[in-house]
Amino acid sequence: MKILVVGSGGREHAIIKKLKENPAAEVIYAWPGNGGMEEAVCVPGSPTDLEGIVSFAREKKIDYAVVAPDDPLVLGLVDRLEEAGIPCFGPRKNAAIIEGSKAFAKDLMKRYGIPTAAFKVFTDEKAALDYLETAPLPTVIKADGLALGKGVIIAETKEDARKAVRDMMRDKAFGKSGETVVIEEYLTGPEVSVLSFTDGKTLVPMVSSMDHKRALDGDKGLNTGGMGTVAPNPYYTEKIAKTCMETIFLPTMRAMNAEGRTFKGCLYFGLMLTPRGPKVIEYNCRFGDPETQVVLPLLESDLLTVMRAVTDGTLAETPVRFQDKNACCVILASEGYPKSYEKGFPITIPEEVKKDVFVAGAKILDGKLVTNGGRVLGVTAVADSLPEAIRDAYEKAEKITFENRFYRKDIGQRALLAKE
Ligand code: AMP
Ligand code: GLY
Repeated sequence: MKILVVGSGGREHAIIKKLKENPAAEVIYAWPGNGGMEEAVCVPGSPTDLEGIVSFAREKKIDYAVVAPDDPLVLGLVDRLEEAGIPCFGPRKNAAIIEGSKAFAKDLMKRYGIPTAAFKVFTDEKAALDYLETAPLPTVIKADGLALGKGVIIAETKEDARKAVRDMMRDKAFGKSGETVVIEEYLTGPEVSVLSFTDGKTLVPMVSSMDHKRALDGDKGLNTGGMGTVAPNPYYTEKIAKTCMETIFLPTMRAMNAEGRTFKGCLYFGLMLTPRGPKVIEYNCRFGDPETQVVLPLLESDLLTVMRAVTDGTLAETPVRFQDKNACCVILASEGYPKSYEKGFPITIPEEVKKDVFVAGAKILDGKLVTNGGRVLGVTAVADSLPEAIRDAYEKAEKITFENRFYRKDIGQRALLAKE
């Protein structure tokens, strides 16, 4: 089989490595992939070049495609590939809107009684500013569309809230994404990420995980794409999982069906376990990054089989099993990320840890792998207990070297506290 994976990050590398475990996956093309993806044939190109991707897939007679990032999904790449007769993993455009528009997602939850923060949607700047006068603090302000994970501002003061609204609506800090804003209630409680496989009829949650979004130890510093993850998330008990299945996961799947927007692919639930029960913070229409780098290493079942079952609508008959173990992923970044940083430094990855490394921001220069991004790579360890997984992940991280290497030293510490 010839498989095409669209995307270039650590998440895509984790998907490619897992797909490769199936001998049927003869060739995997990554569009564009990155220099660290030795298992794939990388094809230069933009993940949003729908024309280019479809004609490449036709020309190479791709048997199966996996679209991993949000923007091509929201733009409708899956629809285009399907029209060309290529079966795909990922939601169609009319379902990817669950991530592509926060106003859509919030309205869906409201209409179908799915627990989430109270909210209002604004398309008019003055109306939004007027509302802020009486809104409780802190206030959460979100750009409606995709904003590279940066479109959420938690304003502690009225002045900050007004600034956020002006930045988004008047100064277009996030382009068109901020023309509509959602202003919502501030929630508190531990956050949990739950990815799920769904074919629109059956929904199978994957093992839960915990992201670490801030750049610095102790959850300080700027928000990033994610500096590390652990799985499972100890806050996510069996009882909470059951509540989420009944009040959030299945109702969401059914709501999308009722709207004529059947979701097939990986539906990601960003949850907050509030004192009043689990609530949805966000939906993503794709695998999370770096959640995937802990979730897929724990997947016992064959990923290609599960993905194809999602595409074929046979998920109910397909076993999806996870190992009863713990995983920890530490992201090695370039010092300075998420602001400016230098790149182009050679990366040394010892042979014995290579299989546990998911490369994100790197390229080949003069035959050598060099840094080429903020988040350079992730390294994952799987072990019987969380403390062992954390220890092993850091041992491996220490062995991977490049100039200006930076990583958080406390990935998993909050999870350990929760276990006590
Ligand atoms: P999002 O991009 O929607 O995941 O938001 C980014 C982060 O902002 C989340 O991971 C939360 O930590 C925080 N956040 C988003 N919405 C809320 C909310 N309503 N209350 C508190 N924190 C929030
Ligand atoms: N780690 C959060 C995300 O992928 O959106």
